[in-house]
Amino acid sequence: MRTPFVVGNWKMNKTAAEAIQFVQEVAKGLPSQSIVESAVAVSPLYLQSMVTAAKDCPLEIMGENIFYEQSGAYTGEVSPQVLKEVGANYVLLGHSERRMYFHESDEIINRKVMAALEVGLKPIICCDETMGRQATGDQIHWVVSQILTDLRGLTDEQMKQIAIAYEPSWAIGTGTSATAEQAEEGCYLIRQTVADIYNDEIANEIRVLYGGSVNPDNIADLMAKRDIDGVLVGNASLQSDSFLKLVNYQK
Ligand code: G3H
Repeated sequence: MRTPFVVGNWKMNKTAAEAIQFVQEVAKGLPSQSIVESAVAVSPLYLQSMVTAAKDCPLEIMGENIFYEQSGAYTGEVSPQVLKEVGANYVLLGHSERRMYFHESDEIINRKVMAALEVGLKPIICCDETMGRQATGDQIHWVVSQILTDLRGLTDEQMKQIAIAYEPSWAIGTGTSATAEQAEEGCYLIRQTVADIYNDEIANEIRVLYGGSVNPDNIADLMAKRDIDGVLVGNASLQSDSFLKLVNYQK
C-alpha cells in the first residue's frame, strides 16, 4: 500500500514572510492524522524557518535542489548535508527547469541522487518529456534513458528511498494537464522500467508522481489511476487554500 503524496514545488516564488504565513494557514487546515502525506519544496533561504513554523503539523518542508558534493569550493551551491541538518527529509532532483536552464544532465542528477542518499535525504527524481516525443512515440526511449542513468548504481535498499515524478514539459505551467490516461501511461512506464532494472517488489513499493498543471479540480481523477501515487504541483501549491484542497482531494 503506497501512501498518497501531494508535493508542492514553489520554484523561485514567495518571500520569507509569505512562506511563514503559508505554514500558519496550512497548519490550521491540515488534519494531524491524514492518509495523504504532504510536502512543499522551497527556497533554502527560509527552509529552516518553515521547518520551525511547521513543527506541530505533518507538513514536510523539502529542498528544490542540492549540489553533488557535501562541502567544498562550490560557490553558491546548496550542501546536501546542511539541507538535511536544517530539517529537510526530501529533495527534488532533476526538475525540467534545472535541466533546461542549468543544463543538468542525467549524469549530474545521478551524482546528486547519491549525495542525497548519503545523508538520508530522500530524492524525488523528475523525468520530463516533450510533446514532440510523445506524439512520435519516442517517449518510451526518452523516459527510460533518463531513469537508467539517474538511478545508476543504486542498491535495492537505496532504491526504496526514491520517488519518481513524471512531468511532461508541455504540461508544466501551461494550465493544460495531461489527461489522467496520459499521466497514467507515463507513470506506468516508469514503474515498469523500475521493475525491469530492479524487481516487481521494488517497483510496487516506490511512489510515482505526476506533475504538470495539477489543480484542485483535476487531482482526484489523476489520483484514481493505479500507477499515480502522488502529484507534483507548481502554481496550485502557492496559495494555502488551494494547497489544502489538493491534500484533501478525497473529500
Ligand atoms: O514541479 C512542478 C511542475 O513544474 C508543475 O508546475 O503545476 O505549475 O504546472 P505546474
